[in-house]
Amino acid sequence: MAVDVRRIPSTLLAGLLLAATAPARAANLSTLDPAGPSAAAIRELLMLVTAIAAVIFLAVVSTLIYCIVHFRERSAAPEAEPPQIYGSTPIETAWTVGPILIVFVLTLVIIRTVVEARQVDPQPGAMNVRVIGHQWWWEYQYPDQGVVTANEMHIPVSRPNLARPIRLRLESADVIHSFWVPRLAGKTDLIPGHPNEMGFEAAEEGVFQGQCAEYCGRQHANMMIRIVVETPAQFEEWIQAQHRPAVAAAEKLSGSGLFVAETCANCHTIRGTPAAGTVGPDLTHLASRQTIAAAEIPNDRKNLSAWLNNPDVLKPGCRMPDLKLSQNDIASLVSYLETLR
Ligand code: CUA
Repeated sequence: MAVDVRRIPSTLLAGLLLAATAPARAANLSTLDPAGPSAAAIRELLMLVTAIAAVIFLAVVSTLIYCIVHFRERSAAPEAEPPQIYGSTPIETAWTVGPILIVFVLTLVIIRTVVEARQVDPQPGAMNVRVIGHQWWWEYQYPDQGVVTANEMHIPVSRPNLARPIRLRLESADVIHSFWVPRLAGKTDLIPGHPNEMGFEAAEEGVFQGQCAEYCGRQHANMMIRIVVETPAQFEEWIQAQHRPAVAAAEKLSGSGLFVAETCANCHTIRGTPAAGTVGPDLTHLASRQTIAAAEIPNDRKNLSAWLNNPDVLKPGCRMPDLKLSQNDIASLVSYLETLR
């Protein structure tokens, strides 16, 4: 079997990274498997720095081993002192200038990569998404399309002949969070009172997972990100579906009334109904999402019921209170929520 030698360091590193991030869930969070130009630029920089560090490491270790072996004490009692040398201008010049040159070159490359990866200047025709970090979920607003959703961001794929750059404006509703989807882009912090911006493109379709990368409290580890990258047509379809208010037929379900009566409406919005709270995620199209609780668990009847029964069991410390609902009310509410396609 042929082994591509150039892939060995990246495979080893990928293995180490996976070992460090994989225990809880089998998400691909590898920076070494880029699916867009920003992530590719970061991977290139990582490879360059690793290669330079490897050369320095090998040079130091081989010199050390050579000296240990070559200059070892050969007899129990040496006859005379070895020659004593004080200072060497060429050697001192070499080990001062060498590292300065390496650091200088790396600084230039890093600055170039950061500018390239973050797309500091907005790309022409970029689609804007406002990302608001909350303890412990993500709010996504599409100001150009007038859409609001939570936890699962949909974006169109970017092709060489049809670029679809994305421009994120990152804000926080409470503490510092950090938006990180390793296969698509580098991480950028969401800082209260200081909006940050970053741009990226997704070169592949699929679901890309991410993770809040700044400790933000008890459920930081469960503040996960999903980016659904679709064809432009699928994305348009999704936008159209998100535009529609909640399904009219659902109004006849008893859960609809309960949603308002049981104070769910104080925190959550379901467009087209009296529910207009903005503290928790917008639930207008909850049933169109694959997961709930910031991508922690699949969005199904069992999990929705468990969540309504007591959110704190699934997400200890989470901001949604236990409303002490009866099993009947939970069943009605779940039936209603499941209609919100
Ligand atoms: Cu949000 Cu950690």
